[in-house]
Amino acid sequence: MNDNFLKACRGEKTSPVPVWFMRQAGRYLPEYQKVRGNHDFLTLCKTPELAAEVTIQPIDILGVDAAILFSDILIPLEAMGAGLSFEEGRGPVLEPPVRSRDDFRKLHSIDPVSDVPFVLETIRILRKELEGRVPLIGFSGAPFTLASYLIEGGTTKSFLNIKKMMYGAPDLFASIMDLITEVTISYLNAQIEAGAQAVQVFDTWAGILPRAEYSVHALPYVKRIMQALSDAGVPRIYFVYDGGHLMDLIKQAGSEVMGLDWRTDISMAVRHLGSDIVVQGNLDPCAMFLPEDRLREKIAAILEMGREARGHIFNLGHGVLPEIPPEKVKLAVDIAHELSS
Ligand code: CP3
Repeated sequence: MNDNFLKACRGEKTSPVPVWFMRQAGRYLPEYQKVRGNHDFLTLCKTPELAAEVTIQPIDILGVDAAILFSDILIPLEAMGAGLSFEEGRGPVLEPPVRSRDDFRKLHSIDPVSDVPFVLETIRILRKELEGRVPLIGFSGAPFTLASYLIEGGTTKSFLNIKKMMYGAPDLFASIMDLITEVTISYLNAQIEAGAQAVQVFDTWAGILPRAEYSVHALPYVKRIMQALSDAGVPRIYFVYDGGHLMDLIKQAGSEVMGLDWRTDISMAVRHLGSDIVVQGNLDPCAMFLPEDRLREKIAAILEMGREARGHIFNLGHGVLPEIPPEKVKLAVDIAHELSS
């Protein structure tokens, strides 16, 4: 049983350092594309045997130290009554967007057992099929990130609609955030009950907020989630994309592990927050395009900084890009293992 990932989450030094990559299952893998060629993305997410198959692909192909459930952060929003589709080249679409009290009334809480049974079944299959080879990570989106998809109706550059509501109708915004928070707590608890051995909360968009707004409109909800899961007995990871300016606030969320994107040096995080932190990250995904010797230098630098923290899980600073050759991704895993053994 390879439990280096769980050990590192608890702040133990491991040799080698555990490695997994955000979006380690996905379009860069021909094996994924083969399965995806016959099914649309949402069908993949909702068919436990297929979701389990693509979850395990990177374990076999790359030799990473953790599996992450194949699903999407937007799945619970659909279960809450939002319309969800993925359109080629446009990314996720949530229609109609939630912009008013009336729109909000159409949303409801969920019972994960009856509303997203396929997620829990995927986890149960995975625990069986992995047979303890590597731990399984469950996940959710963070409330601010999920609210941004609900309110914007998809991906956005300006965040105009969510900010309009945050500033102009803070009570409505808080109602939406409360509901998402409640759903996320029961969703993650259900994943843990089904067998998830760690959970990661993805906050892809909270980094657009200045500190004062993050403190009021995003952090309290994540704190609530982390507190609600504190007795569940599994490590909690909180990843904020582009959150360098929020570092100390992110720490207050109370997760065991802090995920860093590639902009924030691990050394800087240690300097600001103390060497007691456990960090996950944070190679620039584009570094995979470098020739091997330069890639090796970049990985060595990150491992070196990781040694300053109490614990380190090697990862990318964001997801694997679809354009990266799978051999390079495997090479990065091998190098990280070799340099930390
Ligand atoms: O990491 C993994 O391997 C596990 C699976 C996973 C996916 N999405 C699969 C996926 C996880 C953990 C996510 C999280 C997710 N989804 C986030 C947070 C992480 C981040 O990237 O910041 C966000 C913001 C989403 C929303 C989402 N889903 C977008 C914006 C897109 C479209 C972008 C794209 O690459 O097409 C998706 C689709 C998606 N989610 C794909 C995969 C493998 C691509 C689907 C396909 O066409 O096959």
